Amino acid sequence: MDADTIIETVNLTKKYNQYEAVSNLNLKVKEGEIFGFLGPNGAGKTTTLLMLLGLSQPSGGSVKICGLDPLRKAKEVKRIVGYLPENVGFYEDLDAVQSLEYVASLNGIQKNKTEEKINELLELVGLVQDAHKKVGAFSRGMKQRLGIAEVLIKEPSILFLDELTLGLDPEGALRLIDLIHSLNQDKKITVLLCSHNLHQVQRISNRVGIMINGKMVAEGTITSLAKEKFGVGEKEYSLEEIYMEYFQEV
Ligand SMILES: Nc1ncnc2c1ncn2[C@@H]1O[C@H](COP(=O)(O)OP(=O)(O)OP(=O)(O)O)[C@@H](O)[C@H]1O
Ligand SMILES: [Mg+2]
Repeated sequence: MDADTIIETVNLTKKYNQYEAVSNLNLKVKEGEIFGFLGPNGAGKTTTLLMLLGLSQPSGGSVKICGLDPLRKAKEVKRIVGYLPENVGFYEDLDAVQSLEYVASLNGIQKNKTEEKINELLELVGLVQDAHKKVGAFSRGMKQRLGIAEVLIKEPSILFLDELTLGLDPEGALRLIDLIHSLNQDKKITVLLCSHNLHQVQRISNRVGIMINGKMVAEGTITSLAKEKFGVGEKEYSLEEIYMEYFQEV
């Protein structure tokens, strides 16, 4: 494992009965980068995330997170990685502060540090005004913000974000994407971002990977993928144009 590689898979494979959802995936994500993980519905992105987290057992190959096998070192990996799934579950009867208190206690945060930490997080995700509103009355965007605050409680060094901005209005989505960018810049958090919103991915990602039918068909910086598909030229290609080129090949 290279010194700056923080996530590495070698021939990672997941079969559901005879169906191969992820095939021989060799992925490397470097410390400090925002990696955009792209691909059509059913490509195998969420399945990959679950294996990276140790929540799903690979059918073949291996995973290392900071050099650790997430199946053997589940506790340590859980400590390092913050995961925001596609559909976050909340206790609808709790308010934002109570929800965060609950997650803080689950993560063993000292009681005397909890209040300060929660205030800081509410400020960071822009939920100060809604601190005492019940989560059941939150909009989708507010829930996503609370979800981010919850995963940040344990101060993870890696974030896995699955469809973070799905269903958010354009302005709310951009604010959230920019928040992720600033977390990456200011707190040096490495981010693996699964998304269908290529414009948002292009805005903040250092490198991207395109998975189709369980295989990574392209991986690199947006510029390098554009060069591969369109050659060197004056025009700057959008990630959408590049993605469609790879997609049409399959
Ligand atoms: N528990 C399961 N049992 C059987 N098949 C599954 C299971 N989970 C996922 N699959 C299959 O594996 C494939 C990959 O699914 P996955 O959820 O990883 O896709 P995805 O890339 O995250 O798609 P999306 O963009 O729609 O979220 C799909 O064909 C799916 O039906
Ligand atoms: Mg998915």
